[in-house]
Amino acid sequence: NDRPRALSGIQPTAGSFHLGNYLGAIRQYVALQETHDAFYMVVDLHAITVPQDPAELRSNTRLAAAQLLAAGLDPDRCTLFIQSHVPEHAQLGWVMNCLTGFGEAGRMTQFKDKSAKQGADRATVGLFTYPILQVADILLYQANAVPVGEDQRQHVELTRDLAGRFNSRYGDTFTVPAPHIVKETGKIYDLQDPTAKMSKSASSPKGLINLLDEPKVSAKKIRSAVTDTDTVVRFDEKEKPGISNLLTIYSTLTGTGIPELEQRYAGKGYGALKTDLAECFVEWVTPFRERTQEYLGDPETLDAVLAKGAEKARAVAAETLASAYDRIGF
Ligand code: ADP
Ligand code: NA
Repeated sequence: NDRPRALSGIQPTAGSFHLGNYLGAIRQYVALQETHDAFYMVVDLHAITVPQDPAELRSNTRLAAAQLLAAGLDPDRCTLFIQSHVPEHAQLGWVMNCLTGFGEAGRMTQFKDKSAKQGADRATVGLFTYPILQVADILLYQANAVPVGEDQRQHVELTRDLAGRFNSRYGDTFTVPAPHIVKETGKIYDLQDPTAKMSKSASSPKGLINLLDEPKVSAKKIRSAVTDTDTVVRFDEKEKPGISNLLTIYSTLTGTGIPELEQRYAGKGYGALKTDLAECFVEWVTPFRERTQEYLGDPETLDAVLAKGAEKARAVAAETLASAYDRIGF
């Protein structure tokens, strides 16, 4: 397989992925299957940076895998696996910890945000070093492209720095990856606060579209999205962040260009746009929910997909780790 490599990971979360996860990241996972030798994983090691109930973690991990398949990942065209099934992640993670400066790790804004929310006493060392584990996640697969949302750019930059540092200290070992961030959808905004990122932990319930919620609940949230007091449907992220966010979502889900949408809603106002987008979303999400339930209802198939994925991932990860260990002097 001489295609470039792609690698990304997503945390198992309770309930379901949200629309920001899908448009910012998962949609790109699906696209890159066609052009890349793609590896995607549910990052359960990252999940335990905050306390997890064991039974819930196990079921959320399966739920995450089922949603990735429902979103269009095809186990014949990519490698889908669970991070903890491949022990090399933790092993290379340690090596990368030893190459990272304390101050360098302290500058990661995701850590600063998350630890501030939890309080200094409750935040774990694992939360502090998780970006470094992410470096290992990426480098193990010699990834060229890392499909992520905008909020992950700094972690891919850290990965590039550490790959370069290892390579210059020990000799060429790792591919230096690049972030694959789609400009239009790299940051999807909260429906109630269209200047803030749509986020599982920070958005209010009304601002967050969970993919597995009852579609009519999500449709209502879309219809009551915060916009502005003007009535002209125009893409303008500065002056009209709410309507611009809805246009981005609409355009991406339906494949209709934004200029065409602006024309379609000229003189019709925001209400019509919201009603139609709510309908389009329901049409898109209904089969997604059904497929997720199908995968969850067939645990043998899901287990087989994940076992085969872990085996394929391990073959690549073990080879990379062996050459890194050799260079280090192990
Ligand atoms: P986090 O712990 O930072 O929430 P996630 O596992 O939820 O990480 O993120 C999964 C993927 O979804 C990442 O690639 C992230 O960049 C992307 N993502 C999360 N929220 C958004 C958003 N509002 N817009 C675009 N992409 C997003
Ligand atoms: Na994120």
